[in-house]
Amino acid sequence: MGIVSAEKFVKAARDGGYAIGGFNTNNLEWTQAILRAAEAKKTPVLIQTSMGAAKYMGGYKLCKLMIEELVESMGITVPVAIHLDHGDYDAAKKCIEVGYSSIMFDGSMLPIEENLAKAKELIPAAHAAGMSIECEVGSIGGSEDGIYGDGELAPVEDAKAMWALGPDFLAAGIGNIHGPYPANWSGLHLDHLQKLTDALPGAPLVLHGGSGIPDDQIKAAIKLGVAKVNVNTECQLAFCAELRNHVHEFDANEAEYMKEKLFDPRKLLKSAVDAIQASVEERIDCFGSANKA
Ligand code: 13P
Repeated sequence: MGIVSAEKFVKAARDGGYAIGGFNTNNLEWTQAILRAAEAKKTPVLIQTSMGAAKYMGGYKLCKLMIEELVESMGITVPVAIHLDHGDYDAAKKCIEVGYSSIMFDGSMLPIEENLAKAKELIPAAHAAGMSIECEVGSIGGSEDGIYGDGELAPVEDAKAMWALGPDFLAAGIGNIHGPYPANWSGLHLDHLQKLTDALPGAPLVLHGGSGIPDDQIKAAIKLGVAKVNVNTECQLAFCAELRNHVHEFDANEAEYMKEKLFDPRKLLKSAVDAIQASVEERIDCFGSANKA
């Protein structure tokens, strides 16, 4: 099916009681691993680039072309959206220009009036370009200098005002945070999610910070209207753990590994990249989107 915007498959997930994974990519191999996992599981998928990851990889245009070309050269048949994750106003404009198939405008750090005003401009611009658009109200917390916020609860009135502008899916904090969850995290506020769902019937909601939330809480959130779950850290941890194992093995068997030229990055990284794929497949099973392509 190739590259598509995401609104149809995310809405189908909302209506069908499952969620689509939005997986962040960090490089070429990462992108291949996500695509292989989505194809193996026969699921639609969003491959997303944060502003920082896109800069690291060489810019939005390169990211768009890389994903597009891989979808073609790998013979991927499932629907794939090329999505901007947490884009500010300028990044959102840039990705519309470059031709992503989906964008997130994150104005959550702005006063709500300004967030709404910018969203009001970007939503029709994205739709005119054939793209889906995600907006956010109430910021998603995370660790900063070792200090963890508990994760903000998005005001219901802000969510209603944003949803009235017509985005395709909406990120609204329910106690979720980016990065690893601290031991004393109090969990998702499903009662708050229920309030959001009651206020926005049928709206596909997005759960950010999907790494490390217990499966039963993710499944409960999906039942209450979450239709897209974002995952980044979990894949990074899987990659890092396997790479560390592999490097230890390399050290222990140096003469043999050197003889077999296992220093070639294509060989050196293989098991760690496979670990990303396994992690993505495992998340897809949890989200319930396998065989929904
Ligand atoms: P994690 O890194 O916590 O999985 O969060 C990813 C995310 O929400 C990207 O927007």
